[in-house]
Amino acid sequence: MDARTVSPSVPPVWSTIATHGVFPEAKHDEIARYNFLANLNKYLSTVVAPGNRIAYEKRVRPRFRAEHGRDFQNRDEVRKAMKQDPYYQMWSALRRTTMEMRQQNGRSITIRQAPELAEKAAKLNEGKETLVLNPSVKVPHYLTVMDNHCMPGSYHTELFEGDVSAAANYDTGLFVTTAGGLGRLSDGGGKAIAQWVLSQYPEFKPKRILDIGCGLGHNTLPLAQAFPDAEVIGIDVGAPMLRYGHARAQSLGVRNVKFIQADAAQTGFPDESFDWIQTTMFLHETSFLAIHRIMQEIYRMLKRNGLTLHIEQPQYTPDMDLFEQTMRDWDAFYNNEPFWGVMHDLDPAALMEQSGFDRKEFFQIGVRAVNDLEDFTKPRQQPEAEDYGRAAVWNVFGAWKR
Ligand SMILES: C[S@@+](CC[C@H](N)C(=O)[O-])C[C@H]1O[C@@H](n2cnc3c(N)ncnc32)[C@H](O)[C@@H]1O
Repeated sequence: MDARTVSPSVPPVWSTIATHGVFPEAKHDEIARYNFLANLNKYLSTVVAPGNRIAYEKRVRPRFRAEHGRDFQNRDEVRKAMKQDPYYQMWSALRRTTMEMRQQNGRSITIRQAPELAEKAAKLNEGKETLVLNPSVKVPHYLTVMDNHCMPGSYHTELFEGDVSAAANYDTGLFVTTAGGLGRLSDGGGKAIAQWVLSQYPEFKPKRILDIGCGLGHNTLPLAQAFPDAEVIGIDVGAPMLRYGHARAQSLGVRNVKFIQADAAQTGFPDESFDWIQTTMFLHETSFLAIHRIMQEIYRMLKRNGLTLHIEQPQYTPDMDLFEQTMRDWDAFYNNEPFWGVMHDLDPAALMEQSGFDRKEFFQIGVRAVNDLEDFTKPRQQPEAEDYGRAAVWNVFGAWKR
């Protein structure tokens, strides 16, 4: 695509975000900052990012060929060569800066009202058996050694007892990075997978659904809403996410959902106790070792004729060209997502087979976010440019346990 001919659509204003009983209040200037960032992200993905392909084809690749007498053999070579190019440097620096600015603004909004937010959450959670925190759960090493996508303290850090600010920050800022592509409640992935399961398997009536690495439940609630007769359980290691997520669910009137603090690699749930086990944008934030343990745990917890599904960005398959792999791998190097490349390099069929699933039962599909803001976010004139790793279009892999 020629970067000069792209006409970007404008993201919805941040104020279209759906609020709830624990959603932070933002001031005029904070809203203006988020609107600026959403627009900058949109501009970067639609107008600036396509120029990287031009830099690659016109400068970076010919220079490499001239110097080495051959083409690139892997994405590591491409990344190292792209890093020398001023256009890629500019795009990469801007992309990183928008993430840092999102975190600064989100923290400025949430930390100044952290005590009030904690109080609101505590009130909504009071006396409810559907929130089970367990302080003895150890946050895995791979989460404590860095701040996921430049989010200071990641998902688990508490500034004081009962704190929910990490979750509140995530809730306000995700909308900005995705330029509204996930909808007013940032739940477009969960809605999409629920609709897909309902339409593909109308006979499937799950009674117990587990959402692993549920965070604050953005994509857990759509499962509970689509299957109102099911008991839906979201697990996470981050207490602030669970406190906030449970309070948010209560305030949104979703009651068939429970939030439990547990490590996905050793949950403590009995064998064969779930009909459906879901992960959404979770596996790429675990380590190579953990991902194998978690998949074995999923196999153990799943009932016969149960279903497991995993929503992620597309895997790096051999037919994905090295330039695209490099662009998609940006998060691994410059956005504190160290396992991003490791996870997207895996063969998901082999991963599931090693965990006990029958390879014949393995499948992959593509899903697109169900977005109640689509009128704003759909491209006006041309197909949307690829926003490597950020698009609200996913690869889903999974299997039935027979
Ligand atoms: C990207 S976030 C939330 C994704 C969430 N599924 C969603 O769709 O909004 C990933 C979450 O996984 C959690 N997590 C990472 N490793 C975990 C583990 N071993 N067990 C449980 N939760 C984990 C983190 O605390 C974080 O809240």
